[in-house]
Amino acid sequence: PCVLAPPLPPATRVQTLLDMFTEKKEETAPVRIAISGWVDRIRRESKYMVFLVLRDGSNYVQCVLRGPMAQSLLARSLRRECTVCVCGDAVYDERAVTDVEVRGRTISLLGAAPSDFEGRVRVEGLEAFPHRHLLLRTQKYAKTLRLRSIAVHAFRNHLMGKGMVEVTPPTLVNTHCEGGSSLFEVDYYGKPAYLTQSSQLYLETACPAVGDCFCMLPSYRAEKSRTRRHVSEFMHLETEHPFCTFDDLLTVIEDMVCGVVDTVKAEAGPLLESLNQDVPSPQKPFKRMTHTEAIDWLREHEVYKDEEAKTFYTYGDDIPEAPERKMIDAIGEPVFLIKFPASLKSFYMKKCPGEPLLTESVDLLVPGVGEIVGGSMRMHEYGPTMDAFEANGLPPEQYHWYTDMRKYGAYPHGGCGLGVGRFLTWLFGLHSIKEVIMYPRTVDIISP
Ligand code: 4AD
Repeated sequence: PCVLAPPLPPATRVQTLLDMFTEKKEETAPVRIAISGWVDRIRRESKYMVFLVLRDGSNYVQCVLRGPMAQSLLARSLRRECTVCVCGDAVYDERAVTDVEVRGRTISLLGAAPSDFEGRVRVEGLEAFPHRHLLLRTQKYAKTLRLRSIAVHAFRNHLMGKGMVEVTPPTLVNTHCEGGSSLFEVDYYGKPAYLTQSSQLYLETACPAVGDCFCMLPSYRAEKSRTRRHVSEFMHLETEHPFCTFDDLLTVIEDMVCGVVDTVKAEAGPLLESLNQDVPSPQKPFKRMTHTEAIDWLREHEVYKDEEAKTFYTYGDDIPEAPERKMIDAIGEPVFLIKFPASLKSFYMKKCPGEPLLTESVDLLVPGVGEIVGGSMRMHEYGPTMDAFEANGLPPEQYHWYTDMRKYGAYPHGGCGLGVGRFLTWLFGLHSIKEVIMYPRTVDIISP
């Protein structure tokens, strides 16, 4: 009696079932239903009673098998991650994990599972990566996938709500954007090409066509350093704004970051809080600090460039990840770090008016992660752009489509790039960017 002869009845999504019980829960009449899913938990209460928590991706629901069903060979051989179809009567029961219990009348096995699942998902660190496909099924990773989807949609809705147009530049390119050292080269029909480091340059070409625009595409960086915020492939949300000022750009970033945090909280507050007990609540306007002021901060707080020799950072210095995080963690709120020395930044950045050694550039730093956004005003006049190509050893003929923009109606503009993985690491309160990416790619990981 326990195994249903095929064909199986059409299964109802667990979430659809739970939705039937959202109002007047106690008064809802039992619903005869079939649920298909994976066995997430098993509790053998007695010989005559087995509790299963089934997961179908949409949610979890408790099922109970009683009497001969509990004693059947099938019920006794069930393990975590077996796929089953349970038919029975769903009733409200506040003791059950999601307040509904399916009292099984029949159960059929759709797919068996070996007994080593728990062992394979319990491993940690680099050892865990070969098991990533299984790890995704566990609560933490399932939550991050779901919340990531909500956040990605929130970014799109936010930007489209501002009248911006999403475009899709190529990710296979033959040009640099952020310097040669982190380029992945590919053999493109016998010629060298690269996986894009940033879609910015192509995005800029869309402005004269559609105005303010954005793209959300993977960028690639050959990052040999093993840090908790660097991966080789990351989802890059980039925006570009014709006729904006540097101040406007900072406002765009602030609005986007605060808007998306608010939307995710509004749409999935309890889920987010179940992952992060200390969800950030960024307040506008963000604190602003020049690169010079940041160097002063490091000196005042005795954060040394060389700990042993007790030497300090000086004004032209790049601030590496560790001191940057020390500073932002101590400040404890998002900070716009602005006006970086031109020598530290990319060739396309506009110089500050009256301060030719500095750029109209910004990094948004947040506690726990550090930089999550990088942006700048773009050098838009033809002459200085060509000089910058020469100074950086970039062949202008390969960038003719970029330099043409400086010929055919140059326009002041700026934009930014937000690392979606870093943003989510901050929002979810997690330690490493690798926890928010489905299948992270790093110097050590290419599979699965
Ligand atoms: O600061 P970056 O290098 O800026 C650019 O690529 C600009 N072209 C963007 C633009 O103005 N359109 O990178 C932007 C952001 C960083 O702030 C960071 O969040 C993320 O991209 N990022 C990475 N995330 C994960 N792993 C890496 N290796 C990353 N490199 C950059």
